[in-house]
Amino acid sequence: MKRSIFLAALLALWVMPAKADEGMWLPALISQRIEDMQAKGFKLSAEDIYSINQASLKDAVVLFGSGCTGELVSDEGLLFTNHHCGYSFIQRHSSVEHDYLKDGFWAKSRAEELANPGLTVRFLESMEDVTDLVLKGYKPKMTEEQRQALIEKNAKKIQDKIVKEGNGLKTSVEALYYGNQYFLFVFREYRDVRLVGAPPSSIGKFGGETDNWMWPRHTGDFSIFRIYAAPNNMPADYSETNVPYRPKRSLKISRAGVKEGDFTFVYGCPGSTQEYVHSEAVRYIQDISDPEKIALRTMRLNIMKKYMDQSQAVRIQYSSKFASVANAWKKWQGEEKGLRKNYVVPVKQAYEKRFEEWAQGTRYEGITQQLATLYAARNPIFRAYEYYRETVLTIEKLQMARNPRFNMKDYYQPIDEEMFVAMMTAFDQALDDEYKPQFFLDRRNQYSSMEAWKDAVFTFESEAKGLADALNDFFSTVIAPPVAEFNKSINLVYRDYMKGQMEFENGKVFYPDANLTLRVAYGHVEGYRPLDAVYYDPVSTLRGIIEKDNPDIFDYNIPQVLRDIYARGGFASQPVCFLATNHTTGGNSGSPVLNAEGNLIGINFDRVWEGTMSDLVFDPEICRNISLDVRYLLFVIKEVGHADYLFNEMKFVD
Ligand code: ARG
Ligand code: GLU
Repeated sequence: MKRSIFLAALLALWVMPAKADEGMWLPALISQRIEDMQAKGFKLSAEDIYSINQASLKDAVVLFGSGCTGELVSDEGLLFTNHHCGYSFIQRHSSVEHDYLKDGFWAKSRAEELANPGLTVRFLESMEDVTDLVLKGYKPKMTEEQRQALIEKNAKKIQDKIVKEGNGLKTSVEALYYGNQYFLFVFREYRDVRLVGAPPSSIGKFGGETDNWMWPRHTGDFSIFRIYAAPNNMPADYSETNVPYRPKRSLKISRAGVKEGDFTFVYGCPGSTQEYVHSEAVRYIQDISDPEKIALRTMRLNIMKKYMDQSQAVRIQYSSKFASVANAWKKWQGEEKGLRKNYVVPVKQAYEKRFEEWAQGTRYEGITQQLATLYAARNPIFRAYEYYRETVLTIEKLQMARNPRFNMKDYYQPIDEEMFVAMMTAFDQALDDEYKPQFFLDRRNQYSSMEAWKDAVFTFESEAKGLADALNDFFSTVIAPPVAEFNKSINLVYRDYMKGQMEFENGKVFYPDANLTLRVAYGHVEGYRPLDAVYYDPVSTLRGIIEKDNPDIFDYNIPQVLRDIYARGGFASQPVCFLATNHTTGGNSGSPVLNAEGNLIGINFDRVWEGTMSDLVFDPEICRNISLDVRYLLFVIKEVGHADYLFNEMKFVD
């Protein structure tokens, strides 16, 4: 017994401290990491990364749309991001006559660049710790509601001083470390962003769902936009009189290439991580949430795939729906596996034990048990909540019954009928009746089978509407509110637990969980071992594209021009993608990947699926981000798009 505790403690000591290359750091506080970065090869200073006195790298990075990153690569507002980040805009400009998704798009002049209403980019002007200001007037006896109201009032005061009519500034006050610290972010948001170029999907989405989250990877996942501004360089609505935005800073492009061991860093907007959660949160994800959601999505994907394989028209209709279901489905598989492989639950349990020993007699005593109790109380209703979202609420017929603007263009009823039967059955079998509305129970007893119920729902609008309303109302009034309440209580305890962990591991530098604010992650180019006896090289080449080429498989059918170029010779070792150890997550798509000198070497677009548990725990052995090599982007612009006139405004270094 003693011995096993000792071993567990040892294991915890060995696994828990921030490991090499782990972390998503706040640019304004990068001085905390700069020595480590420089020791690992970084050649610049903290001021080069973030400065409020002079132009710095942060001025070349934007939040692109609502969940991606982009970077400025010319002094005339030219911007790179991923193809999958620009996808919906490219799609909106596509028609049968001009299928830009299929054929690619290259504006031959500024006049041909295409406007995208609704698309914005945000530059960070500054960020600063405003914890004291935001909590001014706080008294420990305040309720959480009063504290929240105070924070909002104080935040508004700060913001009103900054946001002035016509200056284009926006602000947000964000909680870090579960509300132990507050940062003010000041942005300038531009709203005239035009499409300049995109490769054909057979390059930009090469490998499709088959290769998604995978290595070896050969996706040319980029698209090119340009930011426009009023003549005074300020944000403006789309107008013909707008001019290309002149950034404070744009990136130089390095064509020197990458090799294993090279220092790299990623500057972008990671969306969400949970690195400091309790073992029970991880156990729930690993044992319940991930496996159940994976199984449900496997059913849905199989149904879609069956019909998509039978008809080209259905494949087009459902490819985007399929992609979004498959993306998380594949990520969760890697996450579940990675959590088990790293013994994250027992390691966290051992950590919690040590924490409690330390916490005896302090205000933190018993806090881990408190969290365990809250999770135990929350989990049944949370499981029901997740089931609703993964089953009955995905049935399109039931969405249609409540939404007159439902998009029928991408709808194929036979798929939805099968979904209905499969999802309603799974829902009914998995959950106790207390989680179902009375209408559901009544109808279930009335129909002889799920098939019969389905026929009624797809024949009589009133049946569809009745069921849709019953399920949605029950979900939003009975299921969702207690889940929200639990999450509030849990987060409140985390505020203390987080603080406690920081005191307990006094000396360790903690990075705040991702929340779509600008961060720097750093690491180096490195392959990995996915399996015993297998090592993956960190760089992929055009040769691999030709190896995968198969006109009969949609995901691997490359444009003829690539075959011709390859046949001409000389391009076999053209680099395409590379791996590195940077800690990234969703939202980092499109982020610039920079070298030791701060020059652009790649564009981040994915992680390897075996390492996706990095949203909960980072394992330097196997967590890798996947980047497009900027030299492949240049190759595609020139050889495929014949758009090398764009090079005139870029700055190259070798
Ligand atoms: N896995 C990447 C991400 O999480 C790419 C997703 C888009 N590509 C795709 N094949 N579905 O966003
Ligand atoms: N493809 C993801 C995105 O769109 C990045 C992959 C990840 O690291 O989760 O942000």
